[in-house]
Amino acid sequence: MKKDLLKLLDLTSEDILEILDTADRLKAMKKAGIPHPFLEGKTLAMIFEKASTRTRVSFETGMYQLGGHALFLSAKEMQIGRGEPVQDTARVLSRYVDGIMIRTFRQEEVEDLAKYGSIPVINGLTDFCHPCQVLADLMTVREKFGSFKGLKLCYIGDGNNMANSLIVGGLKAGMQVACASPKGYQPDPAVLEFAAGMEGFELYEDPKEAVKGADVVVTDTWASMGQEEEKAVRAKAFQGYQVNHDLMALAAPGAIVLHCLPAYRGQEITDETFEEHAAEIFEEAENRLHVQKAVMVRLMKG
Ligand code: CP
Ligand code: NVA
Repeated sequence: MKKDLLKLLDLTSEDILEILDTADRLKAMKKAGIPHPFLEGKTLAMIFEKASTRTRVSFETGMYQLGGHALFLSAKEMQIGRGEPVQDTARVLSRYVDGIMIRTFRQEEVEDLAKYGSIPVINGLTDFCHPCQVLADLMTVREKFGSFKGLKLCYIGDGNNMANSLIVGGLKAGMQVACASPKGYQPDPAVLEFAAGMEGFELYEDPKEAVKGADVVVTDTWASMGQEEEKAVRAKAFQGYQVNHDLMALAAPGAIVLHCLPAYRGQEITDETFEEHAAEIFEEAENRLHVQKAVMVRLMKG
């Protein structure tokens, strides 16, 4: 596995399965109350340029459970927020801490941090992708179904960071992946190019076509962080892309629903469908903790 976790495009299928295996073991140890201080004495710097509940709390708690320490750094209060180059920040932090997790806008910023820093860098969400979330989603799918064999995952909605990572992660895990997004809101061209070279990918505009026979249905907000001003325009563009009873009736019997959260009930998902699938959705949220601990152990243990 590479030094960093920047995007799922960089990982092999074996890397992904190994992370999930480690995450399963760490989850079992946590549930059994077995201490697992694999990162004793290590520090993770967490840089946030965007808001977060799950990512911040799961990384910070995860690091504590691994015997290490996490530093919350708001980009606004760092010199990076006043224009200090990311290349310099990378070289300074590399001399203090053992790993960096960053949530920001531009994927290039994360790639630069990794390029100039000598320590592992973990992408905690960019406009391009959300690899930690999708690793947790894959962990949840495998827990529910036992394996990825013969499964179809369907993503409905904005071709955003979640769509990009789900397409890559789902295909690399061996699932069939369908995506339904309106014109003008399709996934990133680099992701579509990757998917075109893989078996089992289908891109639709019609969510009813995409969801047929799906075992896993996933959606996400119609307006991501940084797109707050486009909310009204987007709400119009995504009419018909709601995950609700009518749409779920077309999925496979026993299909699960995943949502990275935060969810906007009445928009991308109805309250009824959300609550009917709350067990899966909150297991998915919990799995962020286990999967990120696995990523940190694999990248930072040395
Ligand atoms: N799903 C997710 O990344 O949640 P936060 O924005 O709360 O970190
Ligand atoms: N697509 C959403 C995911 C939030 C976890 C966003 O980027 O805001």
